[in-house]
Amino acid sequence: MLLHGCLVLALVCCLGHGAVAWNHVTQQQLQDALDSNGYTLVAYSEALEPEWLAMQETEKDDNIVSFDCHAHSMVCSDLEVASFPAIRLYHRDGRIDRYRGLRKGREIAMFLHRMLRPPYLETDEHLSGVMTMLDDVVVMAHTQPDDWDFFDQFRSLANKYRDRFSFVAAPPVGDTSVLVCYSNIDDVKHTASDVVTAGAMESFINMCAEPLIPDWTEGDDARYRSAGKSIVHYFATSDAEKETYRQEMRALAKKYANTLRFTITDANKDPDSLTKFGLKPEVTQKTGLALENTTTGDIFLFTGHQDVTAPVVEAFIEDITRGNVQPWDRRVRKEQISSHDEL
Ligand SMILES: *[C@@H]1O[C@H](CO)[C@@H](O)[C@H](O)[C@H]1NC(C)=O
Repeated sequence: MLLHGCLVLALVCCLGHGAVAWNHVTQQQLQDALDSNGYTLVAYSEALEPEWLAMQETEKDDNIVSFDCHAHSMVCSDLEVASFPAIRLYHRDGRIDRYRGLRKGREIAMFLHRMLRPPYLETDEHLSGVMTMLDDVVVMAHTQPDDWDFFDQFRSLANKYRDRFSFVAAPPVGDTSVLVCYSNIDDVKHTASDVVTAGAMESFINMCAEPLIPDWTEGDDARYRSAGKSIVHYFATSDAEKETYRQEMRALAKKYANTLRFTITDANKDPDSLTKFGLKPEVTQKTGLALENTTTGDIFLFTGHQDVTAPVVEAFIEDITRGNVQPWDRRVRKEQISSHDEL
């Protein structure tokens, strides 16, 4: 491996360093891990510490190590780790996979499991039910005998997306080749029997993988606002709050999927959005709900004092649809109009 050449230099540069708070492996341990049989998953940088510790705990795996690139910049540049935090999976055959997902223990562990499997799995009828639950997103191809075009496209997409989703080749059903995509977190199943081009297959997979209630990120504005659906915005500050809201609203988001789009905005990352929706960024309680009619540009603020449960939100939506709620007059602040509260 590449490490030997820089051994001396790297040692010199760490002498001045104090004790490292996080339990990084030494250069020799990294070398041993990379030379060992099997694979090595390496995190470079301690920015990953909490997630990494959680993962080392659940995976109970000596092949999961972390290495300090601040202290050993030469070693890291020899390994072509130019910027960090970075997560790399080294395979024995020389293959290196770069992790590009969220820095969350669960996501990283699932990436590892996917990359240690073949790009797609094969199943028979008996196991195909279990296989649909293999991952958060499972793409299953039911290929007709001799439909090589379909299968080739499936296989190349499996190679392209295997780090994010799981792919399964299953026996044929009916009389055409069918692609079925299971989005297990939202418990939604999509079926496409007319995917003839690779592009159509790819959009189908991306559509399926999109969460029912996504995080609103910068750049989504145009996409969501042009979809012709009104948007139910929710503002939250913690992952726990977001998760609670997602679970509570999942059924409602499905029920209104044709006309409404539910999204979550992180009020910490995007404080301007609060003012845009008449909420007060200065208060510590930043949770809030607003419906934006993308056709008219009207914004309806939820001014009730109840907890934001599914029945409460559904009543709010229905009240707006029946014309019982006035759109927010942007000159007036939320607390001043709360006496008009209809709920
Ligand atoms: C948005 O406004 C349009 C035009 O007034 C209306 O037809 C539609 O029902 C409204 N959507 C909602 C969710 O209220």
